[in-house]
Amino acid sequence: SSVVAEPLIGATPNSFAYKTIKERWPKIVTKVIDELHRSYHPAVNTHGQEYGDDINSIIAKISETRYRMETNKPLLDFEGKTEDEKQWNIHLNEMLEMAGEANFTWYNLPWLFVECYLYAKLHEFCTSTKHMKDYDLFKVEKTKAFFDSKAQIQALSVELIDWEKDRNVDEKMVLTRLLQIDLWGNKCDLSLSCGDAHEQIHDMFQKLDQFAPMILVNDIEIAVEHIMTKCKGKDFHIVLDNAGLELFTDFALAEFIIDRKLAKNVIFHGKDYPWFVSDVTEGDYKWVLNSLENDEKEQVKILGKRWKNRPEFIFKHEPFWTTGYSFWDIKDKNEKLFNELKSAGLVLLKGDLCYRKLVGDRSWPIQTPFKFALQTCTIPVFVLRTLKAETVAGLSENAVKTVREKYGADDLTWMVTSDYAVAQLNIP
Ligand code: F6P
Ligand code: MG
Repeated sequence: SSVVAEPLIGATPNSFAYKTIKERWPKIVTKVIDELHRSYHPAVNTHGQEYGDDINSIIAKISETRYRMETNKPLLDFEGKTEDEKQWNIHLNEMLEMAGEANFTWYNLPWLFVECYLYAKLHEFCTSTKHMKDYDLFKVEKTKAFFDSKAQIQALSVELIDWEKDRNVDEKMVLTRLLQIDLWGNKCDLSLSCGDAHEQIHDMFQKLDQFAPMILVNDIEIAVEHIMTKCKGKDFHIVLDNAGLELFTDFALAEFIIDRKLAKNVIFHGKDYPWFVSDVTEGDYKWVLNSLENDEKEQVKILGKRWKNRPEFIFKHEPFWTTGYSFWDIKDKNEKLFNELKSAGLVLLKGDLCYRKLVGDRSWPIQTPFKFALQTCTIPVFVLRTLKAETVAGLSENAVKTVREKYGADDLTWMVTSDYAVAQLNIP
């Protein structure tokens, strides 16, 4: 595997990476600054002036970061006060060695690394304050997104309770549908949609069959077989993506797997700190369960209460998930985590960032065999992803024909709209 495609970088003209750095990241960080002003303006905050000093410190650092990304400056080191920041400084040095001084900038470094760096920096701005060390800059957006999805959550809850009552329901049909729902729940990413994708989500789960052709590689049937027969007595891992509705669909899938005794536990892997706007932190995990338990709808309350008290539901947050490393490096960077995942019944990876880390965010020819794109990552993976970045591997002739007929050879917009999806399984 010496021949490896080039990493995606922002400097590539007309690329989605370029558009993201030029337009979307400034929009994301500006939204954070506005939110900070709105919720804790020094003049009105009830925490006294020192809170205002923290706010001003974070705003000043975000503004400088926005200036540096817009003018393609070199990345700055971390203060290095925490273990996470020390690890990030090691990675920065590795990237400086690899890229050289001239390319050690926002647009010229691998886009995957730079986007992870941005969120690690936003976290550092909080941890280096006096009173806002655990502040979640995206809490307001995640909370709003959850309430925007309430109708969908309530409708799904009724369906889930109905399936439970009907004990001779076809298990394979239910598991297939839960995986489809879990896949499309991934459209709820706030770093792409910035919160305005929710109208697409409504009634989507009632029209799953209509969305089936948008799944370009669909290993769901093989995955159902694997989950029904190969996970007994082993742990089923879910590397979570977004909070809110997507997390609800993860819980629904996990409950079925435990309820039908298809695996021993479900290990939910969240993030150590706020990440890519909508990714699940421990705070989000607990907040969503409490919100479900206190919902006005009976069925939602039942599910929330049960999920909150299930001993087989185990939440973890390893530092690895908030690094800039791809999954090719997981064995070197966290051997314990690698061994845990290697011995899993299955590791379900959710979303676009996970996918990018699986395939090294390379500009693969889209028919590159998925197994080849996984390179040294030898854990048993099943990835459910709506496409939001310009990297994909493992497409069949047919799938290529589908997109080429509609978009032509050079137009990659189909890869970043989250309208298309892949469900790809690789059991080493
Ligand atoms: O481009 C949009 C983006 O920020 C990608 O860079 C990133 O991989 C994706 O959104 C995150 O989406 P998800 O929440 O599905 O991982
Ligand atoms: Mg996400």
